[in-house]
Amino acid sequence: MQLGNLNLDNPFILAPLAGYTDLAFRILCREYGADLCFSEMISCHGLVYQQQNTLEMIRTLAEERPVAMQLFGSEPEIMGEAAAILTTSPIDLIDINMGCPVKKVTKKGAGSALMKDPALAGRIIRAVRDKAKVPVSVKIRMGWTHQSINACEFAKMAEDNGAELITIHARTWSDGFSGTADWGMIREVKKSVAVPVIGNGDIKSYADGRRMIRETGCDGVMIGRAALGTPWIFSEKAQANPSLSYRIAALSRHLELIAQFFPADKILAKVKNQAGKYFKGVNGGSVIRKKIYDAQSFTQLQNLLADLY
Ligand SMILES: Cc1cc2nc3c(=O)[nH]c(=O)nc-3n(C[C@H](O)[C@H](O)[C@H](O)COP(=O)(O)O)c2cc1C
Repeated sequence: MQLGNLNLDNPFILAPLAGYTDLAFRILCREYGADLCFSEMISCHGLVYQQQNTLEMIRTLAEERPVAMQLFGSEPEIMGEAAAILTTSPIDLIDINMGCPVKKVTKKGAGSALMKDPALAGRIIRAVRDKAKVPVSVKIRMGWTHQSINACEFAKMAEDNGAELITIHARTWSDGFSGTADWGMIREVKKSVAVPVIGNGDIKSYADGRRMIRETGCDGVMIGRAALGTPWIFSEKAQANPSLSYRIAALSRHLELIAQFFPADKILAKVKNQAGKYFKGVNGGSVIRKKIYDAQSFTQLQNLLADLY
């Protein structure tokens, strides 16, 4: 997939996941083969008002490139200002969130609520594009409800306003995360625009990703939930159900990265949020998960992993 100066050979991409796709997890997924990783959504207000926790979220390193930072908000001017701030970091893409269904985002007119207001969405894309020195992309859903599906027209509108890449999560706002993603809609969006299209929704393995590309003609695939505790999913060589020692090696590397990038008082909470996911479907997994949640310190957690080897 060609995107500006970027050429992605293995267009398997880590989705933006609030609370998860921080610097440590992005580097980990990159090491396991993800060609491009998206940050969690970043508030344009948080950036413009220089809030400490938002500034921590935009921290990036050369070794994780190419990387995309995702913005959310509903005011074109503030989104433009936020894009100008982001552009001072060494990043490769600014993505605009037009798909998030969460109430605290949509009630302010941001995320998937923008699919109900294409004119405003167009102004936001132009404002970001005018201030960004990197390509701009938009992540959308199929529409607000099944009675108002507008992904194809919306994607075309985004392209006309300067988006150089479209990601479509093939569900509506009203679906939330339930039901099955409608991959047929990815095919329709791909036919509607000339810019590259990334398909998203319900990819559970590398083979699923290949199948989505085959069935829809999309240029790349984005993996969200299935990457949690499974960073090896981005590689063709990945085994469907790797051994316990393989999982522990991945988790140990994840812990090392978390310890490297986060302050001591945040490490344990970060680790607990992610570590249990490495043992999904493993014999004795629930016992391991319980021990992880009971750990009182990072060192105790590291010792626990060493004992499991
Ligand atoms: C915990 C969680 C956090 C998410 N955070 C974001 C986000 O910050 N920005 C965004 O555009 N989508 C977000 N999403 C949606 C995912 O990027 C993705 O579109 C969705 O999970 C479908 O893909 P999947 O089936 O591969 O998980 C989030 C989803 C989950 C489950």
